[in-house]
Amino acid sequence: MKYGKPVKSRVLILAGVAAATVGLAAMSITAQNAPITGSAHDFSALGWSNSQICLPCHIPHGADTTVARAPLWNHELTQATYTLFEGGTAPWNEALDSGSILCMSCHDGTVALDSFGGKAGATFIGGSGLVGTDLSDDHPVGATGVYPVAGNSRFQPAASWEHPAGSGRMFLQDLEVNGVMERVVGCTTCHNVHNTVHPYMLRKTNDGSSLCLTCHIK
Ligand code: HEC
Ligand code: HEC
Ligand code: HEC
Ligand code: HEC
Repeated sequence: MKYGKPVKSRVLILAGVAAATVGLAAMSITAQNAPITGSAHDFSALGWSNSQICLPCHIPHGADTTVARAPLWNHELTQATYTLFEGGTAPWNEALDSGSILCMSCHDGTVALDSFGGKAGATFIGGSGLVGTDLSDDHPVGATGVYPVAGNSRFQPAASWEHPAGSGRMFLQDLEVNGVMERVVGCTTCHNVHNTVHPYMLRKTNDGSSLCLTCHIK
C-alpha cells in the first residue's frame, strides 16, 4: 500500500484546528516547541500507528542506539545507498548526518512507515513526501552539505544560523567527511520534525526566502 495524497486532507483539517488552538493558547509557542499533534507527523489516526503519536519514532525503553545521539529511536533505520548531490554514491552512514538518517528511514522509501518496534511493516511513504535515494535533485545534506568556514564571501558566518536568536543553538550537524569532522547541513537544519507553526515543518519562515538567506549571501 502506498501512503500519500488521501492523508493530506486529514492533515489540513487537523492543521486548521491546531492553528486555531495555538491562537487561543499562549503566544510563546514557537517552531522549536510547537506541538506535533495535528501535524503531518501525527499518525495517531492511522491504523498502523497503534493510535500512538510518538511510538512510530520513539520508545521509552530498549531504543535503537545505532545512530549517535538518536533520541530513543524506535523506527527501523534505512541502510540505503544514495546518489549524492555532487554525483557518485555513498552508503547511508557515510552520506548522511545522524538527523538525516532518521528522516530518511521513512522519506527515502526503502523502509516501511510501520516498521517500528521490531515489526516489519508494509505501508510505504508516497506522493510528495517521498524524497527517494537519489539526492542529486535535493538541497545538499550530510557529506555534500559541508558548511563553509568563516570568511567565505558566499555564505553568512555559521554563527548567523543560530536559531532561535540568542539561544546559542545551531542546527548544523556533525559529520566526519573524508576523515575530518565537519559542520554540515542536514534535514533537521531546515526542518523541525515536531512542528505545526511554519508550513512544511520549517524551523523558521521562508517568507521572502529568509530561510535561504540565513546562510546564502545572494
Ligand atoms: C515522525 C517521527 C517522529 C515522531 C512521530 C515524534 N518524533 Fe520526536 N524526534 C524525531 C526526530 C527525528 C528527532 C531528532 C530531530 C532533531 O534533533 O531535530 C526527535 C527528537 C525528539 C526529542 C529530543 C529533541 C527535542 O526536540 O527536544 C524529544 C524529547 C522528542 N523527539 C519527543 C517526542 C514526543 C514526546 C513525541 C510524541 C508526542 C515525538 N517526539 C514524536 C522524530 C519524531
Ligand atoms: C515514521 C516515518 C517518518 C519519519 C521518521 C519522518 N517522517 Fe516526515 N513524513 C512522514 C510521512 C508519512 C509524511 C506525510 C507524507 C504525505 O502526506 O504524503 C511526512 C511529511 C513530512 C513533511 C511534509 C510536511 C507538510 O506539512 O506537508 C516534511 C517536511 C517532513 N516529513 C520532514 C521530515 C524530516 C525533516 C524528518 C526527520 C527529522 C522526518 N520527516 C522524519 C513520515 C516520516
Ligand atoms: C536547506 C533547507 C532544507 C533542507 C536541508 C531540507 N529541506 Fe525539506 N524543504 C525545505 C523547504 C524550504 C521546503 C518547502 C518547499 C516548498 O515550499 O515547496 C521543504 C519541503 C520538504 C518536504 C515536503 C515536500 C512537499 O512538496 O510536500 C519534505 C517531505 C521534505 N522537505 C523533506 C526533507 C528531508 C527528508 C530532508 C533531508 C534529506 C530535507 N527536507 C532537507 C527546505 C529544506
Ligand atoms: C543552514 C544553511 C543553509 C540554508 C538555510 C540553505 N542553504 Fe543552500 N547550501 C548550504 C550549503 C552548506 C551548501 C553546500 C555547500 C556549497 O555550495 O558550497 C548549499 C548549497 C546550495 C546550492 C547549490 C550550490 C552549488 O554549489 O551548486 C543551492 C542552489 C542552494 N544551496 C540553495 C538554497 C536555497 C534555495 C535555500 C532555501 C530553501 C537554501 N539553499 C538554504 C547552506 C544552506
